[in-house]
Amino acid sequence: MIFNPSFPYRLMHMATAAFVATAFFVGASGAWHLLRGRDNAAVRRMLSMAMWMALIVAPLQAVIGDMHGLNTLKHQPAKIAAIEGHWENTDDKPTPLILFGIPDMQAEKTRFAVEIPYLGSLILTHSLDKQIPALKAFAPEDRPNSTIISWSFRIMAGLGMLMIVVGLWSLWLRKRGTLYQCRPFLYLALFMGPSGLIALLAGWFTTEVGRQPWVVYGVMRTQDAVANHSVEQLTVTLVLFVLVYFSLFGTGIGYMMRLVRKGPQPHVDHGAHGGPGQSRTPARPLSAADEEN
Ligand code: HEM
Repeated sequence: MIFNPSFPYRLMHMATAAFVATAFFVGASGAWHLLRGRDNAAVRRMLSMAMWMALIVAPLQAVIGDMHGLNTLKHQPAKIAAIEGHWENTDDKPTPLILFGIPDMQAEKTRFAVEIPYLGSLILTHSLDKQIPALKAFAPEDRPNSTIISWSFRIMAGLGMLMIVVGLWSLWLRKRGTLYQCRPFLYLALFMGPSGLIALLAGWFTTEVGRQPWVVYGVMRTQDAVANHSVEQLTVTLVLFVLVYFSLFGTGIGYMMRLVRKGPQPHVDHGAHGGPGQSRTPARPLSAADEEN
């Protein structure tokens, strides 16, 4: 299950997603401090490093995503047709790219579609005349839900594009020497703080909902993989999952926000022996965050 043909692309895409998400979270923390007038060398470095990272990894993620999509077209064509909201091929007409639209699974069409001619063929087949498989080529019971994944995909890819814009804007401001003062940019960087995490979740929705109705594509249906457990057993397990995850993530996020509020501390050199607390490892790794804040 792990070492299947999409493995290298998933690994690269997910690992890069982690770097992207971290860069934008750290960048937002730096922007927040600067917007509140807390301008020091450590805060500047925080924003600066995050934006260098964004500048490099955001375009890289789009390139890897493109390769990932081509791999999916080969191995899970129905998923790509559903992502695209592409219902049928007519004659030899190349496939357009639907920028936005609302796929209707019952009516078998994408409503209010805003299309760019040829672009679907160009992106997915790297040609101007080849077509991509359409949803109607698959039996209705073999189609993933296009309404959900066409949107989850557009949220992910749309945020990915916005991230590239932020990286490029930061470079331009850096060259002009106004990276730390440009308030519209700082507000955008702040707003983009959760963007990596949102894109990451949207990506996983695309992958998992897009895989349906198969648990192993083309081999085993999800309904055949369902274990024979009672509703009560499943309810207890689900409730436990929710409780454990909420308390674990709640505590983690609470601590992270505390670290963010405290912000990076400018380095103070206390000489060879170190000042109070400087020459020792903190008793708890997270004691870096103030207790009273
Ligand atoms: C910028 C353009 C992007 C493109 C073209 C793209 C492409 C794709 C495609 C085609 C899939 C589904 C593949 C499949 O299930 O077979 C996917 C999944 C995913 N994407 Fe993206 N993506 C982009 C941006 C991003 C960004 C910015 C993030 C997060 C920071 C992200 C995170 C993910 C994750 C976590 C998955 C699910 C795991 C996986 O299937 O690898 N993607 N992406």
